[in-house]
Amino acid sequence: MAKPQFLLFLLLFFFLMYQQSLQQQQQQQQINAVDLAALHDIRNSLRDLPHSDFFSTWDFAAPNPCSTFTGLLCSPDPSASASATPLLRVTSLTLGTGLAGSSGLMGSISPALSNLTALTQIILYAGIVSGSIPPQLGTLKNLRVISLTNNRLSGPIPSSLSTLPNLHTLDLSGNQLGGPVPAGLTGLPSLRVLLLESNQLSGEFPNVSTQLLHLDLKNNRFSGVLPSLPSSLRYLSMSKNEMWGPLNVLEPLSELVYLDLSMNWFSGSIPETLFRSTLSSLLLQRNNLSGGVPKTKAVDATSYGEGSTVDLSHNLLSGELSPVLAGVEILFLNSNRLIGIVPDEYVQSVLVGSMKTLYLQHNYLSGFPLESGSPLPDSASLCLSYNCMIPPVRTMTCPANAGGLLSRPAYQCRLVHLGNAD
Ligand SMILES: *[C@@H]1O[C@H](CO)[C@@H](O)[C@H](O)[C@H]1NC(C)=O
Ligand SMILES: *[C@@H]1O[C@H](CO)[C@@H](O)[C@H](O)[C@H]1NC(C)=O
Ligand SMILES: *[C@@H]1O[C@H](CO)[C@@H](O)[C@H](O)[C@H]1NC(C)=O
Repeated sequence: MAKPQFLLFLLLFFFLMYQQSLQQQQQQQQINAVDLAALHDIRNSLRDLPHSDFFSTWDFAAPNPCSTFTGLLCSPDPSASASATPLLRVTSLTLGTGLAGSSGLMGSISPALSNLTALTQIILYAGIVSGSIPPQLGTLKNLRVISLTNNRLSGPIPSSLSTLPNLHTLDLSGNQLGGPVPAGLTGLPSLRVLLLESNQLSGEFPNVSTQLLHLDLKNNRFSGVLPSLPSSLRYLSMSKNEMWGPLNVLEPLSELVYLDLSMNWFSGSIPETLFRSTLSSLLLQRNNLSGGVPKTKAVDATSYGEGSTVDLSHNLLSGELSPVLAGVEILFLNSNRLIGIVPDEYVQSVLVGSMKTLYLQHNYLSGFPLESGSPLPDSASLCLSYNCMIPPVRTMTCPANAGGLLSRPAYQCRLVHLGNAD
């Protein structure tokens, strides 16, 4: 009975031996001289900020940087001839520790980086590194991941990056990059994750022709209408830009689980296909959207899950509220032009505690069918003020900006009902 265990033990033993011999081999192996020179230049163009000691292990007198420098991963050169002991090449470079207590690096990114031709991944953690992204990065054809986030990089996104056939993830979030996004970038065959949030990028965002999964452009200065987007997209944020026009290009995006287009100038009606429980974050607040919440009663109104959030506040939505959003956990419909009586499904969701937040203030609603005396769950945030009714609950949890008025002045309610009469 002990036999299989013994075999397993033997296997493990040989595996460990093999790993150790690999490590020893790497320790004995030499790093490629061009890579070593490039590391020198990279090191000389950057410095630790106070409270950062990333470079403390970078001792160029040490025999093999690959086994002693923090942030390096190396592999034997695949292009070396079979006879010679292959030299080590740097395949992954991580600059900074990314640890919470570390302040990061300052300085600039040396163009010598482009001499690390075996590089598949370059990561720069948060700090105050400035200057531009070296366009020479575009010569590193093996690159799969470029992540240079939360520093002070400025200038344009080099158009040379649009020539990287294996680029999977490009994350340049939280810098001071400006200008337009090079058109070729959104056609890169391997690109799946493109994160450009919190920069000063402008112009029209180019049409996307690759099978992107995650696109984050929030907090930039992009303008114009929505580009064409692939149906593979699961996460899309364009919040806080200067974009306008209709949302109908989003209709075919059936894989979306997160959509944030808040704080732009989008107009027209919201496509009905966006009212589905698989799209669990739908954030369209502070636009110029009009039309109504679709009438179609959701097949299963409760199928929106925990954490689902729909925010359509501060738009021009009109008409009566349908039950379609009654299963959402956090729902903001405040500051629109909704009329009529709130469907009972919403009241029930609040009462049973599945809807935790319901903001309906600043509309023209005329009823909320809650039997007086029904106790609301402690967890419920309900705000009904400044509508065309006297709220049936005495204590409401309204945000400060809802104002102190429980109801709208009567003349406003008469006007809207005349205006909406057919
Ligand atoms: C790359 O390496 C070569 C040879 O060491 C050197 O002449 C060249 O200046 C390096 N390129 C950059 C951009 O530093
Ligand atoms: C994107 O494609 C549409 C046609 O599908 C075209 O009208 C538009 O100009 C393109 N946008 C850009 C920025 O190239
Ligand atoms: C918002 O919509 C209104 C009415 O449809 C229109 O008059 C106004 O120009 C729009 N504003 C913007 C910024 O699109």
